[in-house]
Amino acid sequence: VNVFVPSPEPADPALVREYARELASEAEHHGAELGDPRFDDDDWEAKLELAQEQRIPVVSFTFGRPDADVVERLHAAGCAVWITVTNVDEARQADAGGADGLVVQGLEAGGHRGGFSDADDEGGMGLLALLRLVCRNSALPLIAAGGIADGAAVAAVLCAGASAAQIGTALMLTPEAGTDAAQRRQLRESRPTRLTRAFTGRLARGIVNRFLAEHSSTAPAAYPEVHHLTSPIRAAARGRGDADGFNLWAGQAHELATERPASEIVREMGAQARDAVAAVSRRLG
Ligand SMILES: Cc1cc2nc3c(=O)[nH]c(=O)nc-3n(C[C@H](O)[C@H](O)[C@H](O)COP(=O)(O)O)c2cc1C
Repeated sequence: VNVFVPSPEPADPALVREYARELASEAEHHGAELGDPRFDDDDWEAKLELAQEQRIPVVSFTFGRPDADVVERLHAAGCAVWITVTNVDEARQADAGGADGLVVQGLEAGGHRGGFSDADDEGGMGLLALLRLVCRNSALPLIAAGGIADGAAVAAVLCAGASAAQIGTALMLTPEAGTDAAQRRQLRESRPTRLTRAFTGRLARGIVNRFLAEHSSTAPAAYPEVHHLTSPIRAAARGRGDADGFNLWAGQAHELATERPASEIVREMGAQARDAVAAVSRRLG
């Protein structure tokens, strides 16, 4: 189970109001109302209680580090705690804070940046460099995430010290994925991705579309307020199949995604990884 650590405090309401004014014409264009830009904690306490009650084997966190008492509670219930990190300092904090595993997310990754803060200058590191640096600072199992879309990339991160590879975008064309039809079309194409706050108020990587291009420079750092604000616009755009009006989360390697059952993809990645390691081993002699 994956849990979002709540933002520490609400954003400046004036910034959110200003962005809402900018988005009024978007809402009109899509025949939608703007959402209520409320601040909430996404039912943090209820989710923790449920995880404890159900003794969930692995509870992973993103957007922050749970406090020591939360980690203790989960450990007491037999849950392993994994924490998403995007730089070495976060890895150190997560390790010191009782994590059992680190999800090491590189800048290549699709969707939200999972680091502890949403600062502009978070210094975004690519996955290989980050893995090697985190390995030097932590003996915890590392789960590598970001741009891994075939077996060769799985082999690369295992060679770089990861215990496992986490696959996101490469599974988004599978029949099991709930990926919208309009987004499926974009994923197959050679389209650039970018980090943006335009859709949710928190940096996330998606395929560049009109909404992202027009609003990235003005969107405030205000998660979850902006997420709630744009929600009806995104739902309306999705409903009309308008890929220019909603978030097309995708990692940098999205063109490698294939339309096959997830089990086939994962099995093939395992075989490709073994072949890649054997080929490199032969080449190195
Ligand atoms: C559509 C989408 C939704 C995601 N949702 C979450 C999420 O809810 N929680 C989370 O920790 N990470 C989420 N991520 C990030 C992934 O956990 C992971 O870091 C990322 O997919 C890895 O990069 P890749 O997409 O290039 O494989 C999401 C990624 C995508 C593409």
